[in-house]
Amino acid sequence: MELYIDSANLKEIQDTASIGIISGVTTNPSLLAKEDPTLDVKELIKHIYATIGGHVSVEVVSTDTAGMLREADEILKWFPEATIKIPMIPKGLAAVKELSRQEIPTNVTLIFSPGQALAANNAGATYVSVFLGRLDDIGSDGVAVVRETCEIWDQHGLESMIIAASIRHPIHVLECAKAGADIATVPYKVLQQIMKHPLTDSGVATFVADHEKMMKSKGAV
Ligand code: E4P
Repeated sequence: MELYIDSANLKEIQDTASIGIISGVTTNPSLLAKEDPTLDVKELIKHIYATIGGHVSVEVVSTDTAGMLREADEILKWFPEATIKIPMIPKGLAAVKELSRQEIPTNVTLIFSPGQALAANNAGATYVSVFLGRLDDIGSDGVAVVRETCEIWDQHGLESMIIAASIRHPIHVLECAKAGADIATVPYKVLQQIMKHPLTDSGVATFVADHEKMMKSKGAV
């Protein structure tokens, strides 16, 4: 399963890209709003793409089809490899249908049920983003929705790539990998948690200490 970072923070993206664990970045208007307000959004997005050189989803904020298509045109001028992130509303699906006709990749966002994922797939979405954390937040079972979506995909050989989004903790990532999601888009903090284990840290400290002890006993230090 591929990992993307769910962030608009350049430092987080650079840090994670430098160790090779991510192949893409998903942004959204709320993530962009957390960044330094003096930064130009277009320049920031271009910088993000230059850093990752892979998938970058950029979200539209219009709620009508024509407005979404206008925004998509503008984003594609920033960098033509952009994936256009479109909300899961009927007017959004009309935009997805048109962008798909033009062979422009789309990521349908704010999906909370397998039915919504199926509709987005049928409209021609390249990616469908299932928001599991927000489902858990309201007392539903987000992983179950990802699992059910993956089962339907397997049954029918559907084409959209399934992105597990709104990830809250490492167990979410593992459960989505087991369910068969193609990609998980993960916040920086959770990516750090995934990589960390106290036995790795203590193991490294012991190896270093034993090596130094050995070198001392050989008179090399
Ligand atoms: C996905 O593409 C979204 O940006 C993201 O996962 C939203 O997650 P949140 O529920 O933490 O805002």
